[in-house]
Amino acid sequence: MKTIFSGIQPSGIPTIGNYIGAMKQFVQLQEEYECFFCIVDEHAITVPQDRIKLRQQILQLASLYLAVGIDPDKATIFIQSEVAAHAEAAWIVQCNTSLGELERMTQFKDKSQKTGAASVSAGLLTYPPLMVADIILYNTNLVPVGDDQKQHLELTRDFVERFNSRYAAKNQELLVLPEVKIPEKNAGGRIMSLQDPTKKMSKSDTNTKGFISMLDEPNIIRKKIRSAVTDSSGKIEYDVENKPGVSNLLVIYSSLTDLTIDEIVAKYKDSGYAEFKNDLAEVVVATLEPIQERYKELLTSEELQSILDLGAMEAAKVADKTLRKMKNAVGLGRKPRR
Ligand code: AQP
Repeated sequence: MKTIFSGIQPSGIPTIGNYIGAMKQFVQLQEEYECFFCIVDEHAITVPQDRIKLRQQILQLASLYLAVGIDPDKATIFIQSEVAAHAEAAWIVQCNTSLGELERMTQFKDKSQKTGAASVSAGLLTYPPLMVADIILYNTNLVPVGDDQKQHLELTRDFVERFNSRYAAKNQELLVLPEVKIPEKNAGGRIMSLQDPTKKMSKSDTNTKGFISMLDEPNIIRKKIRSAVTDSSGKIEYDVENKPGVSNLLVIYSSLTDLTIDEIVAKYKDSGYAEFKNDLAEVVVATLEPIQERYKELLTSEELQSILDLGAMEAAKVADKTLRKMKNAVGLGRKPRR
């Protein structure tokens, strides 16, 4: 069975962008792959976080993983910081990655340009190697992520090739080379902000009207969709260049139903934006309501705690083995360990 690894940062409540781009795929993939789904809390602290809120968000994300349908009997769900191998392997990755590669990462460039490179944390520069470590520790074959993670996956593949060619003995496969799995943009690979459809929808956006959180109440969802930025033409058409707002809403609609974008466009050819938005809001509410109900039951349950305990143990078994291989390969410690 091939292996999948993917993670989400508990840097806020996941948005429908996280759901469509990542979580929804996880549920389908667990049927065919050995899956590791991680709550990547170490990534979340690259920017300042409130301690109490972060802990709360970790459990909220874990509950949402289960509530969307990830089955702990089929997939391993765990918290990154509870498996020490991630931070340790990340160091070996950093020492085999050039500064130039990290400075070219667009997320670092974007965030450091906003506030100035001197004031952002060093973690913002070095978290891509941590992400490489997350992936390689599980001998991952496939990484299902949204479109924004493409560059990180390229870094991972470059690293694996470099590491194997530097350190693997002849005919030995030291680290597994992963493939990336990204939904097409018109299938939800990049859901855009409702307020600025040229920008990715993000859970940490300071403008809360820009995203729909997976825990937003129905009336909030309706309000946010009603006030989503569109254009003045009044025509429901898919045209990302000239009508990014409406196109984004069409992608959300299509991703959450079994209708294609063309079918939705045909359905609303004689309607205005108001009717289209009202219907879309009901589609989003109908998707999220059952998830929210299951989420509430899970959040404070003993079950959640034991799933995470077991998940960390299962994950550590696999991760520790790969870490040992990496340490042996580079020559750390006194003697090779099995
Ligand atoms: N807008 C999006 N459309 C499609 N997929 C998305 N993802 C994130 N935003 C969208 C995918 O969700 C997974 C988890 O992402 P993450 O939380 O680890 O980091 P992120 O990409 O930085 O997500 P956010 O919501 O934008 O978080 P903040 O605001 O904290 O930076 C990934 O697979 C990602 O591609």
